[in-house]
Amino acid sequence: MNNFVFCTPTKVFFGRGIEQSIGENIRAFGAKKVLLHYGGGSVKRNGLLDKVINSLNASGLPFVELGGVEPNPKLSLIRKGIALCKSEEVNFLLAVGGGSVIDSAKAIGVGLANNCDPWDFIETKTAPDKCMPVGVVLTLSAAGSEMSNSDVITNDETHLKRGITSEAVRPAVAFLNPENTFTVSKFQTGCGIVDTMMHTLERYFTGDADCDLTDRLAEGLLIAVRDAGRAAIANPEDYNARATLMWASSLSHNDITGCGKNRKFPVHKMEHDISGVHDNVAHGAGLAVLFPAWAEYVLEYDTMKFAQLAHRVWGAEMNFDHPEVTAREGIRAMRAYFHEIGMPITMKELGITPDDYAEIIEKTTLDGTTLSSYLTLGPKEMLDIYRLAE
Ligand code: NZQ
Ligand code: ZN
Repeated sequence: MNNFVFCTPTKVFFGRGIEQSIGENIRAFGAKKVLLHYGGGSVKRNGLLDKVINSLNASGLPFVELGGVEPNPKLSLIRKGIALCKSEEVNFLLAVGGGSVIDSAKAIGVGLANNCDPWDFIETKTAPDKCMPVGVVLTLSAAGSEMSNSDVITNDETHLKRGITSEAVRPAVAFLNPENTFTVSKFQTGCGIVDTMMHTLERYFTGDADCDLTDRLAEGLLIAVRDAGRAAIANPEDYNARATLMWASSLSHNDITGCGKNRKFPVHKMEHDISGVHDNVAHGAGLAVLFPAWAEYVLEYDTMKFAQLAHRVWGAEMNFDHPEVTAREGIRAMRAYFHEIGMPITMKELGITPDDYAEIIEKTTLDGTTLSSYLTLGPKEMLDIYRLAE
């Protein structure tokens, strides 16, 4: 097990009815004037925004609203948010939504606390050490941004989708009520299931020395998500299934399933450029297509680990003489599961043709960048992986 630091300070309020105390609880984090940040309108339609506003009013907390965050959150709106917060003297950012809204709020917080454009950190490949406090009222179990140290934003001028990674961007407080995910569509529920699984799987397959405890935490999370995913797709108002998915979303990306491992995330980095170039591709859908293809590509470098996952999570019988058979069976079962929950499993289903590959790969390999995986992934290897996803 590698040395590690584990510090995940987000205070979590979990369960029914927690919206009532949002105002008083964010006051405890110093909130004096709040930016209420949300997306394209789901929180208005399902009544959540009104509940949050009632709680702020009851606590006497003034606020300004900025809605309109799009999936794959855009730098242009983030810049607008920074200007608004400066003129309104906002000191606390409250994101009511999924990963895109949270990441937009985090980027506004980075810009405000450092008095700069948040994209500067991406350009200079540096990390901010300050961010204005962010609170989250989560509405979609997926990205894990409610506890993560990542912030993924899209530059709508260059179509580059990139992440800022810093301990400073972990939210101060998160309000997780599974009922607030009852209205999530089956498609977005499926995307969330895949993304949650991926945050653990990208930490599981790193090639590091065995970490049995970390592996078993990961496998337990994957099994719980697999089963709760099926239940939530069948019945969107299954509270316990939604609760499992919500808590798993947070735990899968707060680093607990990666202790003692190196974080590399090659599949995420490839997928971000797919949805950066093709704005209509949802992150989880892109991962459902890419991850099994990547797994097939690198399987020979960690065959026993792939067989272990296949056996423990996907129910494949262990073939000790030919573990690669078990490993391949696991990848087949994973693809079948993604298909079952309504996810695309081919590039074609994502709406991406072989003619599109060059532009995407060019973004991922900008300035000679390669991805660290079991082997170094450059343009040729990425193209091979895309072909396995056809
Ligand atoms: O905009 P509204 O109207 O709210 O609709 C959203 C949006 O269209 C809808 N939705 C959310 N909650 C809902 C709901 N619809 C009905 N009922 C509800 N309760 O769902 C759609 C997708 O929302 P979005 O926030 O984009 O989805 P998700 O949570 O999957 O976030 C995806 C973004 O997070 C990034 C992804 O790259 C992507 O940009 N990620 C962020 C990470 C992080 N910061 O740690 C890690 C991840 O790996 C990921 O990269
Ligand atoms: Zn993800």
